[in-house]
Amino acid sequence: MPLNVTVVGTGYVGLVTGVCLAHSGHNVTCVDIEPAKVEMLRAGRSTIYEPGIEELLKEGLKNGNLRFETPEAGWNPLIGDVTFVAVGTPMASNGAADLSAVHAVVEDLAEAADRPFLMVMKSTVPMGTGETLCQRHLSKSGVSIGYVSNPEFLREGKALEDWYHTDRIVLGSANSADLTTMKSLYADIDAAIVETDIASAETIKYASNAFLSTKISFINEIANVCDLVGADIDSVAKGIGLDKRIGTEFLKAGIGYGGSCFPKDTRALDFISTLHGYDFTLLKAVIDVNNRQYQLPAVHLMDALGDLNDCRIAVLGLAFKPDTDDVRESPALGIVPLLVGAGARVAIYDPIAADTPLGGAERTTTIWEALEGACAAVVVTEWAEVVNLDWSRAADLMLDDAIVFDGRNCLDPRTVQAAGMRYMAVGRAGAHRSEA
Ligand code: UGA
Repeated sequence: MPLNVTVVGTGYVGLVTGVCLAHSGHNVTCVDIEPAKVEMLRAGRSTIYEPGIEELLKEGLKNGNLRFETPEAGWNPLIGDVTFVAVGTPMASNGAADLSAVHAVVEDLAEAADRPFLMVMKSTVPMGTGETLCQRHLSKSGVSIGYVSNPEFLREGKALEDWYHTDRIVLGSANSADLTTMKSLYADIDAAIVETDIASAETIKYASNAFLSTKISFINEIANVCDLVGADIDSVAKGIGLDKRIGTEFLKAGIGYGGSCFPKDTRALDFISTLHGYDFTLLKAVIDVNNRQYQLPAVHLMDALGDLNDCRIAVLGLAFKPDTDDVRESPALGIVPLLVGAGARVAIYDPIAADTPLGGAERTTTIWEALEGACAAVVVTEWAEVVNLDWSRAADLMLDDAIVFDGRNCLDPRTVQAAGMRYMAVGRAGAHRSEA
């Protein structure tokens, strides 16, 4: 049965939630405080780069299931029977999650409501937040407001696929009627449902991202050891990953994880643990390892070239991963200043990532411009354009004996070497050996 749904916040999570629920037949109102964003979305143009989202956006606008509003005329008419909160929880300077937007929205909704509704928390909030919000805001409302913690597990670039084919839906609430409403909202999604209390649902979100980050930092450490002992990380990752207890996913070694989630959520979980008097040693190590990985290209290039002064280096990719324009916490943001600091002339190419001020670096519009005259190329993002590049043409444009540092282990070393270039990567010792 279609439900009246409101989604507050049209950022990444909010917009995906809104368009997907509209596509499932619900009657959805998305609310954002930024009029320019609302105008753009009303015109059928997506405010985020996400494959497939614009089609669903246009479909929802056309069939009337989806509309966009600002709260200028007051919150009350905007509140749906099910109202999602999907506003940002950015990292504060101390590593904690900044909850000011969450509190402001929840307070506004609780004050404005004149009829009962169900509030669903999609924003990633620290454990204990749901309880605080209920006590501080919802209990003071003149109406009864239910609360469900419903964390999201969407990956940027694959959000629509993840929405419809998620492994699980997590619902944290003590109220069985609210859980029934949530299950009917997601009736068309075939996934395991984990019903639990609010604090556990909040913990599941942080624990999931911390565990995936741990897998990445673990395989990166193994890759670093592979480089020292002459083993090959691809074989090692395959060999351990085929053990179903370990699993093959998130075992791709490279220059580390980035994005708006893993760096923020691991630091927030560490902060929450510290607040509760717990020293989360393992998580701290995961974060430290990740902070070290992005230094590899500069370290290895300096080893190989002696001096990077005045050396032109092409940085291929700025986004934290392919199929997104998101550069938040991208390894590139650490790599470029290191190379520039070492005196290199850095030319960055990325097919779509937003322009980011990176002092001293040039941004090129084609990959060939970046490679022209370069003594090295660093692969930061495994864009299809980079993976499938004509490396012979690249070699012709670059200086003799140029180096390709494959920070994502995404190239075939033989193709690069056959083009006459030196190949370096993270833990691919076989490739290093043949370079010698
Ligand atoms: C991540 C989680 O995968 C989602 O489940 C979660 O919902 C989301 O955070 C969130 O909390 O909102 P996302 O940040 O979009 O999603 O990106 P991932 O695809 O998980 O990749 C994160 C980073 O890890 C990227 O920089 C990627 O290059 C890196 N990575 C990933 C590796 O270095 N190795 C791997 O094997 C996998």
